[in-house]
Amino acid sequence: MLSTVTCRALAIALIGLTLTNSVQGSNHPISNDIVCPANSHVSFVHNSYTYNAPLNKFTDITGSFFNISWYANTTVTSTTGTDNVPGATRSGPFPGAIFNETLTAFEKRSDALLFSYHGKGLAYTMGPGYPVVIVDGYSETMRFQSICGGKATYIDVLTYTCVDNQPLMYTIWSMVHTSFNGVAQTFGATILAGDCPQEAHCDKN
Ligand SMILES: *[C@@H]1O[C@H](CO)[C@@H](O)[C@H](O)[C@H]1NC(C)=O
Ligand SMILES: *[C@@H]1O[C@H](CO)[C@@H](O)[C@H](O)[C@H]1NC(C)=O
Ligand SMILES: *[C@@H]1O[C@H](CO)[C@@H](O)[C@H](O)[C@H]1NC(C)=O
Repeated sequence: MLSTVTCRALAIALIGLTLTNSVQGSNHPISNDIVCPANSHVSFVHNSYTYNAPLNKFTDITGSFFNISWYANTTVTSTTGTDNVPGATRSGPFPGAIFNETLTAFEKRSDALLFSYHGKGLAYTMGPGYPVVIVDGYSETMRFQSICGGKATYIDVLTYTCVDNQPLMYTIWSMVHTSFNGVAQTFGATILAGDCPQEAHCDKN
């Protein structure tokens, strides 16, 4: 019979292996390095989330570049190219603007899903009465990774934007990224606060 300490050590080793594999798998060049014109500055936002539900619960909803009914309170109304093939574009309404994004990288494996895309410039507002930000383009990379031996999912999203108002842009993207909580809620997943969900055989001793 394994002691609690041994089980814990095993679980930690497994997490380490899973993360190492995922990082290696995602280790290919993605151009997030955007060059901003005069009067526009790089705003960088990195948000990450961990939920106690398997990867496929998320990717069943988030797995299509052409379907963002789950993201940013908007929908795709126009596309070009083939879904999930780099070069494809999607566009739709934002408050006071139209977004138009081009897929630059897509990777799907049994344990990970990655999208990277570039968005054209636009003038965005959080809504009536809120200031407008002038965006000169942005790059976003979104990764969904299976962790805890398939029991949980790690999501992170990195966004670089050329914008006239960096603090407001940071606030806007951080709010938009809370869309992952909305996805998790649709199947009752909650935020994983630390340890992986325990294995049944570890609970018995
Ligand atoms: C988009 O995804 C949502 C959530 O999975 C789904 O309910 C909806 O039918 C999809 N829309 C299209 C056009 O496939
Ligand atoms: C979005 O941009 C692509 C590539 O420039 C273009 O082909 C497409 O027509 C644009 N879509 C909209 C709705 O403007
Ligand atoms: C979507 O809209 C609702 C209602 O206006 C708002 O509470 C929520 O923060 C918005 N979510 C995102 C991701 O923008």
